[in-house]
Amino acid sequence: MRGSITRDPARPDDPRLIDGFGRVATDLRISLTDRCNLRCTYCMPAEGLEWMDRAEQLTDDELVRLIGIAVRELGVHELRFTGGEPLLRKGLEGIIAASAALAPRPDISLTTNGIGLARRAEALAAAGVNRLNVSMDTLRPDRFATITRRDRLADVLAGLAAARAAGLHPVKINTVLLRGVNDDEAGALLRFAVDNGYELRFIEQMPLDAQHGWQRTEMITAGEILDRLREGFDLAPDPTERGGAPAERWIVDGGPAVVGVIASVTRPFCGACDRTRLTADGQVRNCLFARTETDLRALVRGGASDTEIADTWRDAMWAKLPGHGINDPGFLQPDRPMSAIGG
Ligand code: 5AD
Ligand code: SF4
Repeated sequence: MRGSITRDPARPDDPRLIDGFGRVATDLRISLTDRCNLRCTYCMPAEGLEWMDRAEQLTDDELVRLIGIAVRELGVHELRFTGGEPLLRKGLEGIIAASAALAPRPDISLTTNGIGLARRAEALAAAGVNRLNVSMDTLRPDRFATITRRDRLADVLAGLAAARAAGLHPVKINTVLLRGVNDDEAGALLRFAVDNGYELRFIEQMPLDAQHGWQRTEMITAGEILDRLREGFDLAPDPTERGGAPAERWIVDGGPAVVGVIASVTRPFCGACDRTRLTADGQVRNCLFARTETDLRALVRGGASDTEIADTWRDAMWAKLPGHGINDPGFLQPDRPMSAIGG
């Protein structure tokens, strides 16, 4: 079958995932499950969320087919697997191995909370994971239990060490600072990361929590983070090309260590965004903050061809808005929380 019924006539005839503002999406973020074994207060309520039905979730074969279309037909060359918590997805190593077997071979990374990573790091590396991001907001067990509502800091620390030992370089740590909770730990976290060979990145808290409790005044800004870090470290801007990377990077104490700050709220980087997203139930999102989705699962299950699916994906990306609008007065949080979109 040629073309697709959804084709926007204004969209140029380009095989890639281009949008109306000249951006090209080459980085696919795939949420493998909306479930999580932690309950971070800034993400979800203590009782968890109403999880997706298994039947709604793409099967491994459906997912691998969509990833293949993205890599072969749409020019995607980076894959990042996220969740919820991606280590909870049965068949994770198989999905990764199938993705790594694609030509051209995509770069493969994983964002995890680190629970269970100590046992899995070797197998993940063998399956084809190139790099890992581990979420860790504190070095203090009591605080970890308060923030995540689970007493599992030791598991995360063991996971980090196992990832490093498995050669998943660089192992990055993602940290969200919360006012009055862990915002006095910026320096200690950076010292820990530098001493242990991990790359730390701070992420400004975004309005993506399931409880819709985000407040601008509560958020620790990039400016505040940098001020705190400068009390103990010399930071020089990293001259290497940033490209579509969300983190601004600083060289720490003359290097080689670097620290990143992802200032989605106070210094948005939407103009350089190169991402497209696929949820665990097969919906394409052209932005973390998109208020609409495109249903690829219906196409997959309805017998659509690769060509039709690819063209529908192109249409979804063509409609991408110029920015997330967090700072606009009429901003509305997306219906899906972060845990069901993927970081
Ligand atoms: N704002 C910023 N970062 C968040 N994360 C989860 N929820 C939010 C939020 N509302 C982080 C997690 C993880 C990464 C995927 O995103 O801590 O490190
Ligand atoms: Fe789980 Fe990540 Fe949400 Fe924490 S922030 S509850 S680790 S999905």
